Amino acid sequence: MAATNGGPLSVTISIDPPTTDPPTTDPALRRELDRWSAAPADGLRLARLVTCQVRRHGKHRLGVPLLAALAGIRDRHGDADTFLAAFLDSVLDRHEDRFRNQTYLALPLLGLILADRSSGLDPHRLSALLVADLLAHEAPVAGTEPGEADVRRKRIRHATTLLAAVSPAHLGDPPAPPPTPAGAWLALTVLPVSVVHDEYFFLRCLQIHELVFTVLTEGLRDATRAVRCRRVGDAVAHVRRARTVFHRAALLFRIVATMRPAQFHDFRRFTDGASAIQSEAYKRFEIACGDPAAERIASEAFSNVPVVLAEARHGDSLARATADLRRDGGAAGPDLDRLTAEVELVETAHHRWRTTHHRLAVRMLGDAPGSGHTAGVPYLRQCLGNRLFTPAG
Ligand code: HEM
Repeated sequence: MAATNGGPLSVTISIDPPTTDPPTTDPALRRELDRWSAAPADGLRLARLVTCQVRRHGKHRLGVPLLAALAGIRDRHGDADTFLAAFLDSVLDRHEDRFRNQTYLALPLLGLILADRSSGLDPHRLSALLVADLLAHEAPVAGTEPGEADVRRKRIRHATTLLAAVSPAHLGDPPAPPPTPAGAWLALTVLPVSVVHDEYFFLRCLQIHELVFTVLTEGLRDATRAVRCRRVGDAVAHVRRARTVFHRAALLFRIVATMRPAQFHDFRRFTDGASAIQSEAYKRFEIACGDPAAERIASEAFSNVPVVLAEARHGDSLARATADLRRDGGAAGPDLDRLTAEVELVETAHHRWRTTHHRLAVRMLGDAPGSGHTAGVPYLRQCLGNRLFTPAG
């Protein structure tokens, strides 16, 4: 079966029917590995060939000899090419027994692209590029089964709404990656474990979700600093902006909800160990809002993100800054009332987010445990009542 991903971040591949044996390595990739065994060569070219191999067979089916050769290249030459090293970090995660959300979503590589100055990206622009790529991947509706075509059209409609929310200027004219070396790596940030069509858009949604929570955290930290400086009116503006960004998280769920449970289970067989419970971006957002209760800090929600757990011990939060201001009698009146009202709206939006997530998990997961090794739906149900903006008691 031939599959062409014709979008701005495309690589062209043909998919073999699955067998139990590891697939043979593509001859062009074999030649490239031979070249690298003599001397370091073009990292981007190697990564493109590896991506074709991954998308043709699924990451979980790559053979050990290929993975061992790639690990050797990473160990010998990774220091000289940080993009290649980050890329291989994701390709080799399962092989090296460290498959996690970060590597499944290729977050180290996306982080390097985002940080590249010459590309001039920020989380908003990068989100727009990822949505544009998702649209390109879904767009070839012709030739699909009638039911599948309806699903794709619906998915495209929701993704178009998301693009309009992220970058209204690009509606009808999806953005292209920057013409920089870092921009060229963007096409290589989807490394599915399977050959199931839907895994591609699911990965893009989870990556965009990380960026949404990165933006939200920045907004809440700005609001906290403003409160500490007694600029409560500025804090209101920051929280209001954050609330509009929250809307994107709800749109992401609408896109994911177009997936049928059978498609989800088809690739989920290979994702055990990677879960959004390991998302540092989401937990940073949580601790930027308030001080999580002791039970939550002691639970798997935070034991899965040790870096953020350490930050929680030293960082500030908007709830704490606002409580301090109130206690010191430093501000009162309309600005503080408006801040309280805006914060409550974010709290409500987050509660709605959690409820939608729980509903989605009930439909997709049923009684199965979570890929992050929680009980699954019972874990999510127990979290439904958690509030964000609670100051330390
Ligand atoms: C098929 C769809 C989905 C299912 C079945 C699902 C299921 C789950 C489950 C069972 C957990 C608990 C941790 C675990 O054991 O893995 C979890 C956590 C989480 N999921 Fe999802 N999820 C889905 C989609 C999404 C999407 C699209 C997002 C983001 C847009 C998301 C964000 C999160 C976050 C942030 C957590 C951590 C929550 C916490 O720590 O309290 N999930 N998910």
